[in-house]
Amino acid sequence: METQRPKDAQQPDFSALLLRVEEILGGAGPLVDRLAALCSLLRGAAPHYDWVGFYLVESPGWLALGPFCGAPTGHVHIPFGLGVCGQAAQRAETLVVQDIARESNYLACSVEVRAEIVVPLLREGEVLGELDIDSHRLAPFTPADRAFLETVAARVARLMT
Ligand code: SME
Repeated sequence: METQRPKDAQQPDFSALLLRVEEILGGAGPLVDRLAALCSLLRGAAPHYDWVGFYLVESPGWLALGPFCGAPTGHVHIPFGLGVCGQAAQRAETLVVQDIARESNYLACSVEVRAEIVVPLLREGEVLGELDIDSHRLAPFTPADRAFLETVAARVARLMT
């Protein structure tokens, strides 16, 4: 069961955010630039989104770091199955880790990170990449976060060739 944020925490306005997401993704320019703008939007959208980035499938069974916003990470290439990112890619499903201390198959990026959500970018069941968000808070992700981020990921996947 997913842990809820405390009641005093502010819920982002997901409807307004989704409009901005559509604007960014519908804009001109290379997709990689639009994904970078999306990372920036999402990072500023919620206080518990501390690192926002995309991993893209660069060759079968391998993820490569794409646009991101937040601290640099050493995890640039990740094989399917390894870490939270690799597990989400292997299973082709969203993974929500509310406490990374309880996850043994985890690749640490920074000592500040406490929780992580990884949402695959799917086209007809095929994993094209994923949206990854790290949080410095413990158990920060709500079902509403997950639903919103899955909608964003679906929009992004639609644009990928
Ligand atoms: N923590 C991830 C690695 C990627 S960083 O969070 C940016 C993992 O366990 O796969």
